[in-house]
Amino acid sequence: MKLAIVFFSATQNTRTMAKTLKKEFETLGASVDMHDITTLADRQKEISFTAYDAVVFGFPVHSLRAPKIAREWLQTIDGEGKKCAMFFTYGGFIVHPAHYSTREILNAQHFKVVSSAEYPGAHTFNLGGWKAFADRPDNQDFELARQYAVATYKRFSGEDEGILGELDKSTFSEEELDQFEAFRFKIITQLPSRNGAECSMCKICEEVCPSGAMDFETGQADAEKCIACLGCVAACPDQVLTINSTTESWKMKLSKGKLSETELNKQVGAIYL
Ligand SMILES: Cc1cc2nc3c(=O)[nH]c(=O)nc-3n(C[C@H](O)[C@H](O)[C@H](O)COP(=O)(O)O)c2cc1C
Ligand code: SF4
Ligand code: SF4
Repeated sequence: MKLAIVFFSATQNTRTMAKTLKKEFETLGASVDMHDITTLADRQKEISFTAYDAVVFGFPVHSLRAPKIAREWLQTIDGEGKKCAMFFTYGGFIVHPAHYSTREILNAQHFKVVSSAEYPGAHTFNLGGWKAFADRPDNQDFELARQYAVATYKRFSGEDEGILGELDKSTFSEEELDQFEAFRFKIITQLPSRNGAECSMCKICEEVCPSGAMDFETGQADAEKCIACLGCVAACPDQVLTINSTTESWKMKLSKGKLSETELNKQVGAIYL
């Protein structure tokens, strides 16, 4: 069986899970190609799905759904009736609208979704002071990936003829979800910036930016284009790109959700069949 794993990953969590799944599917006998669609240049390359028996899609949860630019990219491809599976990495908060809304898109693009999964991943805003899932994904998440690969492989091969069952529909409308997305970008992290600091001008921040927002010469992100993925901050070898402190918003987030840090970090992932 020939599989494609298509993933978006700004700060490596989803990439780590994609690599883990590649290994697990190969152990089961599949041959697996990886397609990274994180950068603008990556998303401009055409992927021919005709060559594959099935496709696995992996995304981080950004404001309760897959990142907007990944959702837009999905709407440009055609599944030709092929089976596919989804997985998400998330930072400890609401994740279910991502499963539902991504399946809606994949169905509209003529894919048949057979399974989904969610795996804890260090929250991106930990880069500014949050403390959610600091050491995830870890071995328990990799074990869950193994179980997901086994169940998904059976569905891809037809040994199990099931497809993905009922998913919780979000109580939020698409318009409300759009508002959360806009709020997050503007308020929580503000824009990554070098703030005039000197650096080696390696250009990595511009190259990794998924939305074409970062200008390595000025070391400043464009407010209109930036999606707050913090890929530039995580990738900067000189560590000169910074955001505002997220420590206060972390306290607010915990108190609003009536959560303790310990409870939050005990969460485990899930498989949906
Ligand atoms: C803009 C933005 C919004 C996010 N929204 C959520 C969210 O709604 N729920 C959640 O649990 N985690 C959220 N996260 C955390 C990410 O889902 C998590 O850190 C993910 O593993 C990052 O994946 P990556 O390392 O592959 O980029 C968000 C992260 C970013 C950057
Ligand atoms: S990644 Fe960092 S060191 Fe490289 S150009 Fe950007 S700010 Fe400078
Ligand atoms: S400039 Fe914005 S969109 Fe680009 S990598 Fe940095 S945080 Fe992500």
